[in-house]
Amino acid sequence: MNRKRPEDLRSHRWLGVNDLRSFGHRSRLRQFGYDAADWAGRPVIGIINTWSEINACHAHLRARAEDVKRGVLQAGGFPIELPAMSLAEPFVKPSTMLYRNFLAMEAEELLRSHPIDGSVLLGGCDKTTPGLVMGAISMGIPAIYVPAGPMLRGNWRGEYLGSGSDVWKYWTEKRAGRITEAQWNEMESGIARSFGTCMVMGTAATMMAIAEALGLTLPGASSIPAADSSHPRMCAAAGRRTVEMVWEALTLDRILTPAAFDNAIKVHMAMGGSTNAIIHVIAMARRAGIALDMQRFDQISREIPVLANVRPSGKYLMEDFFYAGGLRALMLELKDRLDLASMTVTGKTLAENIAGAEVYLRDVIHSLDDPIYAEGATAVLTGNLAPRGCVMKPAAADQRFLKHRGPALAFEDYNHMAREIDRDDLAATPDHVIVLKNAGPKGGPGMPEWGMLPIPKKLVQAGVRDMVRISDGRMSGTSYGACILHVAPESFVGGPLAFVETGDAIEVDVAARRIHLDVAEEELNRRRAAWKQPAPRYLRGYGAMFSAHIGQADEGCDFDFLAGKGQIPEPEIH
Ligand code: FES
Repeated sequence: MNRKRPEDLRSHRWLGVNDLRSFGHRSRLRQFGYDAADWAGRPVIGIINTWSEINACHAHLRARAEDVKRGVLQAGGFPIELPAMSLAEPFVKPSTMLYRNFLAMEAEELLRSHPIDGSVLLGGCDKTTPGLVMGAISMGIPAIYVPAGPMLRGNWRGEYLGSGSDVWKYWTEKRAGRITEAQWNEMESGIARSFGTCMVMGTAATMMAIAEALGLTLPGASSIPAADSSHPRMCAAAGRRTVEMVWEALTLDRILTPAAFDNAIKVHMAMGGSTNAIIHVIAMARRAGIALDMQRFDQISREIPVLANVRPSGKYLMEDFFYAGGLRALMLELKDRLDLASMTVTGKTLAENIAGAEVYLRDVIHSLDDPIYAEGATAVLTGNLAPRGCVMKPAAADQRFLKHRGPALAFEDYNHMAREIDRDDLAATPDHVIVLKNAGPKGGPGMPEWGMLPIPKKLVQAGVRDMVRISDGRMSGTSYGACILHVAPESFVGGPLAFVETGDAIEVDVAARRIHLDVAEEELNRRRAAWKQPAPRYLRGYGAMFSAHIGQADEGCDFDFLAGKGQIPEPEIH
């Protein structure tokens, strides 16, 4: 493809012509103290930054944006930083998932409405990766994703602590009376020791790795700890490379092919990645015009074992994964299963990007001959309880629950469950199947991460640590257990989960990929006829728009008016 000339740049329409409007644009740049030497003939690189003072995972991104700018200037570009919604996973309520599409819209429209030729996307905390990438895909200009990188390992009394995973573990121990209040308070200071994302294989680490496997980051970028000096160097390199991508017209549609998405799903499986990734990858693929569905994850899961020995499925943390060689080394292990000819933001193929990689710590990154878990991270089950599918993370579950039949313990919504679950007289056994309704995309709304449903207190005190739990919500990528999630269609829209009653027999057979509600069809029809949809939670504002337009989990939870590849006109400049 021919290199662009300065007059081919998108920003030329704002800055390079000689009319009344461009006078206004240039005079306002001069208002900043810039001169023609700053912009004339240079690609304008929009740095979309999800830094904020409420998002500790992105606390370093304000400084990192300066590193990106340094790289852009070195390569002859003109950097402009554009702030975007930060989506701090721990603070945003009711769920960041309610706002992923908001960020996607914001990123897309920031790029479209301004004189931007190429973009560097700064994010990492869970939904920021898919949000930024979805927006950039829909806008269609050259872009590089810069992952925020994981924080340092947590530390408590000489033990490593993993974000989320160890919180859940020790919270359960505290409920069982095995951890004191003082010890719990010590952990609060030790579990998050630096800026950066959660450092287990949660949604953040999974999505950053997926972005790299898709070809959207510089090689190795997703594994670099946020506090490592390699990180600012990677940021500057991303700035330099984005300028070149603009001249090369290397747009994301040349990178995001069906083979690239298969690569990403294979890496997801080998990483033992978060179940959340299924929703996000489907949404990103559909933005790129690729009709991906949940079954593709299940097919690949049967072919690709878990190789990364990282919590919550394994033992180590992301800092160890970096020292072990990082994602390039893991992809090298998978090289015979990946499409190595796939193009990436480097302008080179995946094969070229992983050449020379090596595994340094064999217990952290295993080989295909000696995997951590024989199958991939995610199983997709279907049956009369989830006609369009639901997901489970078999490696993170007590293995005896992979084939199970038990009576349902059903809750109508989160508050109902919260009221009942710790009652001493709750009729619950370890074989019960806990069911939570109305936690889906419309019912939550926003599909909150409630899916690791609490085990009844009396069972926790008796030593029970896992049970089969089913919901139409999601669970944090840092969570674990025999949790069956994303049930589609969801109960709020009348999916079969809505008709489960306490005492109904539920069967789960992961090997057969089957989930079954053992209730006679006539009885289910009677319950369906008597069912009434709960009242919507939001009657105005963004929540009402969300509820009206959100898709189901198996569709990627995109808005109906954002999904797909439809044409959007470039803005008129009058
Ligand atoms: Fe930001 Fe986990 S809270 S990545």
